[in-house]
Amino acid sequence: MDESFERAKEFFLAGVRHYEAGRYEQAHAQFEASLSFVPQRASTLMNLGATRIQLGRFEEAAEVLEEATEVDPSDAQAWAHLATALAELGRHEDALRCADKALALDAALASTWSVRGMLLRDLQRPQEAVESFRKAIERGADAPLHEYYIAAITGEAAPSQTPARYVQTLFDSYADGFEDHLVEVLRYGAPGILAGGLPQREWRSALDLGCGTGLMGEQLKPRVARLVGVDLSANMVGRARERGLYDDVVQADVTGYLASAKEASFELVTAADVFNYIGELAPVFDAVRRVLAPDGWFAFTVELTVAGADVELQPSMRYAHSRGYVESLATRCDFEVAALAEHPIREDQRQPIPGLFAWLRNPRT
Ligand SMILES: C[S@@+](CC[C@H](N)C(=O)[O-])C[C@H]1O[C@@H](n2cnc3c(N)ncnc32)[C@H](O)[C@@H]1O
Repeated sequence: MDESFERAKEFFLAGVRHYEAGRYEQAHAQFEASLSFVPQRASTLMNLGATRIQLGRFEEAAEVLEEATEVDPSDAQAWAHLATALAELGRHEDALRCADKALALDAALASTWSVRGMLLRDLQRPQEAVESFRKAIERGADAPLHEYYIAAITGEAAPSQTPARYVQTLFDSYADGFEDHLVEVLRYGAPGILAGGLPQREWRSALDLGCGTGLMGEQLKPRVARLVGVDLSANMVGRARERGLYDDVVQADVTGYLASAKEASFELVTAADVFNYIGELAPVFDAVRRVLAPDGWFAFTVELTVAGADVELQPSMRYAHSRGYVESLATRCDFEVAALAEHPIREDQRQPIPGLFAWLRNPRT
């Protein structure tokens, strides 16, 4: 019995070391090995559940975390992880109950206040969601990120751009299933529409802003000699590189990259479904104007505002822009508006997202 306990402890500690170093597959194997010596140990079950969350195995995570909460109902962390797993599975009401249990046991769990806020937002309980995000900030959660969540719900004090950390976390975790989900489930076809509206010519150089996994690049490659992609998310950049369509894929913020690019160095700049993560577009337009060659084209999408303001941060946590705003920026930058087309970008919760497709031309010679 003692020997089993010692072996279980060794595997457990090795699991914790792997987990802390981000080696989740190895951590998983160690926690499972530990449980084979001492089954039903709450802390091991809890760590195994947390590891499965990191591996995106939410169903199995929930199973083992439910067991952990049965073995030790006073383990706040187990309830907190169970809330996260259930939230990922779309079981909002169950997840909320678990988050409340975790917070009743330990009100200092900042990340659980944050999960709770997201759940309440999805459950259309905005005021309580805002209170939860405020509690998360008080408990030490990332303040700019949570202020952004609050601004998206209240519509007040929106920052000019989505915090980089939000974009990176969202798209790093989304990169694996991105294309199937976006194209099959959300009926995303923006890259094809944008490419279809470009003049039939060969381009010497093109820059794809927020290139993601490379869906836009796929459309452009046959007509472009040198194709560069830029994206903030490391995992999206990894996917785009694997695809082998781009001559270079840079992990950077759109505006930062444009500022470092040479003047008039691209004949074509594209941004498909990206400006909804950038609120204030004037700096991007100015920067694109600088890097665009004479007779170069700038093709992009925006989500269209419903209420009519120039820029709106929506509860979806994406920005929408008005047609008038896009037109006034084009005028300000001396771009010629070759075409504007209102067309849904994709769906969200089975509803089409109203969008504007824009093709601008740099007429300067
Ligand atoms: C919805 S995806 C679209 C990807 C691709 N353009 C497509 O059509 O499939 C948005 C992408 O923009 C990237 N992104 C958002 N804000 C960004 C920023 N400020 N700088 C660079 N990339 C950004 C995200 O990481 C993500 O890969």
